[in-house]
Amino acid sequence: MSSRPTTCIPLDHESLTVSKGHNAPQQVHIAQGDYDGKAVIISWVTALEPTRSEVFYGKEEKRYDRKAKGRMTNYTFYNYRSGCIHHCLVDGLEYNTKYYYKIGIGDPAREFWFRTPPAIDLDAPYTFGIIGDLGQTFNSLSTLQHYVKSGGQSVLYVGDLSYADKYKDNDGGRWDS
Ligand SMILES: [Fe+2]
Repeated sequence: MSSRPTTCIPLDHESLTVSKGHNAPQQVHIAQGDYDGKAVIISWVTALEPTRSEVFYGKEEKRYDRKAKGRMTNYTFYNYRSGCIHHCLVDGLEYNTKYYYKIGIGDPAREFWFRTPPAIDLDAPYTFGIIGDLGQTFNSLSTLQHYVKSGGQSVLYVGDLSYADKYKDNDGGRWDS
């Protein structure tokens, strides 16, 4: 735990550094993609140029035998210009199954995994956290470390991942961190 728990984490801190490689996917998010738990939506940003909104996935590590195609969007707000924002629905999944996935091709590609929830059943055991107003302070980091230790299977995130309002012109770099 830091001695400055409510200070914003510096952008060069290991928890906020951007992945290496040209135009590497960043700000990767995953969310439930349907009402049943058999789909996820994977979102990410490529900051420098458009790329394909594709997710390669499969049930074995490093063996991505399936591919899902998504869409790309972007927006501007005053003098802020977003990177290319990708959203990709990965559906037709099995319950309670671990999937590995990859975003991007070649050097800047990034790999992650997720586990789908159990089949819908009032008695199905499931552990999840509820987190909101997280921010980007050392306290935020501590909250996430505690959540990971708790063994939660997913998070119901209720809003406000970070705050850029106290920065000059709402600092776009902080907004994208
Ligand atoms: Fe808030």
